[in-house]
Amino acid sequence: MQRRTFAIAALLAMAVGAGWAAGRPAPASAAQHPRGVGTLVLPDGANPHPVRLVLPPRKPLSAVARLGRELFFDTSLSGSGRMSCASCHDPGHAYAPGNARSVQLGGARLDLPGARAVPSLEYLYRQPNFSIGPDNEENETVTLRQLIARSRGAHRVRKTAQDTQASAANLVPQGGLFWDGRANTLQQQADGPLFNPLEMDGGSPREVARKLRHAAYSSQFVSLFGPSVLQDPQLLVGEALFALARFQIEDPSFHPFTSKFDAWLQGRARFTPAQMRGYIAFNDPRKGNCAACHVDRPTPDGLPPLFSDTQYEALGVPRNRAIPANRDPAYFDLGLCGPFRKDLATQSRYCGMFLTPTLRNVATRHAFFHNGVYHSLARVLDFYDFRDTRPQKVYPTVDGHVEIFDDLPPRYRGNVDHVDAPLNRRPGQAPAMSRQDMRDIIAFLRTLDDGWRPGRAPGER
Ligand code: HEC
Ligand code: HEC
Repeated sequence: MQRRTFAIAALLAMAVGAGWAAGRPAPASAAQHPRGVGTLVLPDGANPHPVRLVLPPRKPLSAVARLGRELFFDTSLSGSGRMSCASCHDPGHAYAPGNARSVQLGGARLDLPGARAVPSLEYLYRQPNFSIGPDNEENETVTLRQLIARSRGAHRVRKTAQDTQASAANLVPQGGLFWDGRANTLQQQADGPLFNPLEMDGGSPREVARKLRHAAYSSQFVSLFGPSVLQDPQLLVGEALFALARFQIEDPSFHPFTSKFDAWLQGRARFTPAQMRGYIAFNDPRKGNCAACHVDRPTPDGLPPLFSDTQYEALGVPRNRAIPANRDPAYFDLGLCGPFRKDLATQSRYCGMFLTPTLRNVATRHAFFHNGVYHSLARVLDFYDFRDTRPQKVYPTVDGHVEIFDDLPPRYRGNVDHVDAPLNRRPGQAPAMSRQDMRDIIAFLRTLDDGWRPGRAPGER
């Protein structure tokens, strides 16, 4: 039995958020005075304030989505004839690669390495469009250029796990798909990998259209979009991309919400002591503060948390020397300002920023961060704990000199986030997390794996 006397209940209440709407007043004063709470007792691993989550409806796939499923697994669309979307986005691995490579091989002979780690395709169904500024709806009526001008001189608000409203007001880029947000919709996104010479290398739209016309499922295009669709390569490819997007939006396997954490939120599972401690450290602004960016509270209207605030940050992760492109010392992946995204190339203050990824199913991944530099969660946690306090543990030492932020040209290193805990410390200071905290956070992260079933022994996911 655990007895803790500090802000646990306050943290829980805030993390679970909506629970308080069901009749209990939010303990605002307790939150502001974390050590003053006194007599609160951990309720045996259960969520003291279960919530009702608004989950995506489960209904049979539409005909377009079923066509999209065929396309997703069709290797014949690739230049090699051996690669489909599923080769990199494997449904058996949360739609991410099953192997531990930092970057995957593609191209006509499947021997060309990519430049970034392959993200999971799960939980993108609520990803907003790319924008800069606090209010997405308003942003749709103004151009990116206007937004950039408006955000100039704006303050960067510190994010804390307890006040994610502050981050909403943050004038930093948010939303979009890919590590740099360069696509807005799943449909727009799919022509990237289909034609990318390092990925599926499908050839010209005309060539892909020819393959689509000869595919076993070509009659489905006709019944869905009419006979003329087969005559117009652009149209045919466009409808194929639309179908791929519908598959990802409609198929529940892309947003199953079957993790232990989801069950816990709804009062149907108990955390082990390690998972509970990890959950608290994940939320504690003095420890992990992870929830400041990897948001773990349901929205006010009950949508389940996706563990990303969809904002961009420059964390300054170390250079990954295993990526062949990085053999060129002049090559840098700068995220928002290039090389793949072009429209923000002159906005130097965004250089080095990458999208905050979801942490759902993160324990099933084998390569972490945009450049896949780490292959275990323990190393990721070390990065957050030691980046500032013991940089020699994170960055290489060359000629007796620790090469801090070695994956950014010196002129952009000022963009690296030094504001948000635990990334706000100085060399030699005590790290924010203890070894035990980090082990506990990893135990908590494992509760985000989908496919949990009740009745498993304590300690299992
Ligand atoms: C050779 C490996 C490979 C193949 C094949 C591939 N992808 Fe990807 N995919 C990637 C990489 C790498 C990224 C990240 C690229 C970036 O951020 O610049 C990505 C990103 C994505 C994203 C954005 C995810 C996010 O979190 O923003 C989507 C959606 C996606 N791919 C869908 C597809 C579809 C649909 C196909 C098939 C038409 C496909 N991919 C084929 C490697 C691949
Ligand atoms: C200031 C915002 C912020 C905070 C705080 C933060 N993260 Fe992140 N996290 C990010 C961003 C941005 C990335 C992607 C960075 C990149 O790839 O360059 C990321 C990436 C990750 C990844 C890699 C996921 C993947 O699929 O590659 C993991 C794991 C992770 N964070 C865990 C944590 C944990 C655990 C904590 C708390 C100790 C934490 N983060 C705190 C913003 C944050």
